[in-house]
Amino acid sequence: MDFIKIDNRAALGSVSAAQIEALRPAAEAAVEKLEHGTGAGNDFLGWLHLPSSIDEAQLSALEASARTLREECDYVVAIGIGGSYLGAKAVMEALADNFAAFKPSKGAKVIFAGNNIGEDYLHDLMDLIKGHRFGIIVISKSGTTTEPAIAFRLLKEMLEQQEGKEWAAHHIVAITDAARGALRRLATEEGYDTYVIPDNVGGRFSVLTPVGLLPIAVAGGDIRTLVAGAVEMENSDGELMLTYAQTRNALYNSGKKIEIMVNYDPRLHFLAEWWKQLYGESEGKDHKGIFPAAVDNTTDLHSMGQWVQDGERTIFETVLSVGCQRHEVVIPTDDADLDGLNYIAGRRVDEVNKMAELGTRLAHVDGGVPNLLIHIPALNERFLGQLIYFFEKACGISGYILDVNPFNQPGVEAYKKNMFALLNKPGYEAESAALAARL
Ligand code: PA5
Repeated sequence: MDFIKIDNRAALGSVSAAQIEALRPAAEAAVEKLEHGTGAGNDFLGWLHLPSSIDEAQLSALEASARTLREECDYVVAIGIGGSYLGAKAVMEALADNFAAFKPSKGAKVIFAGNNIGEDYLHDLMDLIKGHRFGIIVISKSGTTTEPAIAFRLLKEMLEQQEGKEWAAHHIVAITDAARGALRRLATEEGYDTYVIPDNVGGRFSVLTPVGLLPIAVAGGDIRTLVAGAVEMENSDGELMLTYAQTRNALYNSGKKIEIMVNYDPRLHFLAEWWKQLYGESEGKDHKGIFPAAVDNTTDLHSMGQWVQDGERTIFETVLSVGCQRHEVVIPTDDADLDGLNYIAGRRVDEVNKMAELGTRLAHVDGGVPNLLIHIPALNERFLGQLIYFFEKACGISGYILDVNPFNQPGVEAYKKNMFALLNKPGYEAESAALAARL
């Protein structure tokens, strides 16, 4: 059976096999805590057996909602931020034609909003969809997150004015808490279709809930195969996750404080963004944790390459290596050969990319940058499903090895408190006064 693979041999040297193996008891204890719910944050373990618990009825309902939006809209705006957006975006980008945004599509085009507070972004988005039939998938567990709330208020008003309240209500789907929160209340009042974000699944672990599955299905992704891939990893012996969690913690303990997720395929940019949130929010606490960074190669070899090769030796890399491309492009011969490329004429572009990948890995290892390799046979739903579950479970294990609660995110509240105080939100009077005095 084809499976993603991990190879940590190029990490050896910076850490020994014995140092990695020494973390096996802690890693196994972490798995025990996850499986028995005895660790910190144990009320947020719903993702652990989520793939195998998704049933036919859930998948059929999601596919039916997706079909309606795809067939009846030109655009579907998926509104959400953080865990309520990155997973869907990552999978959609990885599956899509690189230039899908510029090509006619069979169904609705999915675009994202509510993941920033850019005024021109919202203006330009509304300008793009004005006069077109559009639907909205609004995703927020709390229902009060500022960024998606602003986007939803604007787009809901626009849709109702453009198509009428009834049409709008039939083309807005809310994905939120089962019972609580502002979005649940609004959805009930307005009669929107809804899907539930389970109480015990945190935002960054929610890609395999309707949060990720509905936008992916609207974009044409095969969510059954995605889930099936995740089930394969859930049912595996777990060795891949243990290897990743142990190796990265051994490297961290040896002074490698930054992990750079490296890809050689532009479609993986957002997979790394999703991974950054998953690991950053899960491990960066109690003044501890590997800093998750990412580069897109070979692009970034021409910008960050110098730093990675020769900068401070506090980094290690995890390379996402994709086995095969979907299409063949062969480099042509040129009689003049002014660019000197005839030595690779007749060879596939991917062969050159693979040699760039291998050459870079060798150079970085020689330069003191340990490397882990994650081999993904191909970018399709099945292997993406495997990869998602792999990273989620390894994250839980790694967080427990680090001895933090991997399932909370207390640090993200600090900026919100200041922003609300600066905007004079009711209830923040004392903080407003304190900031006014300070500024
Ligand atoms: O991982 C998390 O919990 C966060 O990133 C949230 O997903 C993000 O803040 C969005 O929250 P909400 O879904 O409540 O709007």
